[in-house]
Amino acid sequence: MRDDANDAPQTVTGSPMYEFDPNETYKEIVYRDTWKTHRPPAYFEYRQLWDEVPRLRKELDFPIHLDIETTNICNLKCPMCPRTMLIERDEFSPLGMMTRDEFASIIDQGVAHGVKSVKLNYLGEPLAHQDAVWQVAYAKQKGVLDVMMNTNASLLRPAKAIELLEAGLDNLFVSFDAISPDLFEDRRVGTSIGRVIDNVYAFVKVRNERFPHVQVRLSMVMYDDPKWREQFEGMKIMWKHLVDAIGYGFYTERDPDAQGDFPEVPGFWCAQPFQRMFLKYNGNVTICCVDDKDETVVGNWREHPLATIWNGDAYRSIRRLHAEGHYYDMPMCRKCYLPANG
Ligand SMILES: C[S@@+](CC[C@H](N)C(=O)[O-])C[C@H]1O[C@@H](n2cnc3c(N)ncnc32)[C@H](O)[C@@H]1O
Ligand code: SF4
Repeated sequence: MRDDANDAPQTVTGSPMYEFDPNETYKEIVYRDTWKTHRPPAYFEYRQLWDEVPRLRKELDFPIHLDIETTNICNLKCPMCPRTMLIERDEFSPLGMMTRDEFASIIDQGVAHGVKSVKLNYLGEPLAHQDAVWQVAYAKQKGVLDVMMNTNASLLRPAKAIELLEAGLDNLFVSFDAISPDLFEDRRVGTSIGRVIDNVYAFVKVRNERFPHVQVRLSMVMYDDPKWREQFEGMKIMWKHLVDAIGYGFYTERDPDAQGDFPEVPGFWCAQPFQRMFLKYNGNVTICCVDDKDETVVGNWREHPLATIWNGDAYRSIRRLHAEGHYYDMPMCRKCYLPANG
């Protein structure tokens, strides 16, 4: 429970009022945070901003963070992934990779406006881009404080691990769904558990030797089923002496035919439109992590400057709707699991 009196939960017509928590849908066990002792003071200021801006529903001139879909290509075909579902329905965007000029322009604009962090993926596998190491190095050389990626780690061969660490990658978030080879390979179609274990092990070894400021976290997609709880228990034993944290997020329904509206949660507002901006490979700029189908497009980063999009009428009115407690006026937000999981 928050100790700030202004944030104390209130009651509206008998139902509990939403209490803001930016990390509510992700459960995590932290084994060590020694990497934090190697981060500069600016890192902690940025993390404070990350929490404070959405909590106080502050309007910034530019997002704190950019999610950059450097490529929408992936080497795997995970059945739970919205990308896989959209490809099977023939509804996914044309595949491709950002050019170096496009990536540099995004980073240059971000840095000019004081962006603090970037994540180098949305849908797609960031290490499928041949420029992944160059992208990390470019962002770090330009002064981005925190550079991260989610990866299936199947392409993270030991040589690539060293290159990424030397380029300056700050956080590696590995998707790792099971300890049983059959279950793992059923979820992560196109790779093997042994290959991914070897890759993560090699990365952690070099991290421990030379890059202690780097965070390594593993996460699985969880299902409401004892079988998957058991896998997570196994993950804890398997990884707790190797990685910094292990977490899970529940499977969220991404099949458009199976999605429906959740009941309204009084008082809810979403953190993401206040913190971050999503740049899809196809050019679309979207407002949150769940919009895999580009339902709420607020601009095109190939056509307009990022600051113009962030400060445009479309983005501003969405932030206002959320800030004033009207998130449910947005059809996309009605279908979102985040309010209901608070
Ligand atoms: C779409 S992937 C893209 C990055 C990279 N290819 C990877 O697999 O980590 C980003 C994250 O979304 C998770 N994910 C995929 N489908 C999901 C679903 N239906 N519900 C919840 N998480 C999902 C993946 O496990 C991964 O951690
Ligand atoms: S590796 Fe990531 S992007 Fe690729 S199919 Fe699996 S979850 Fe989706």
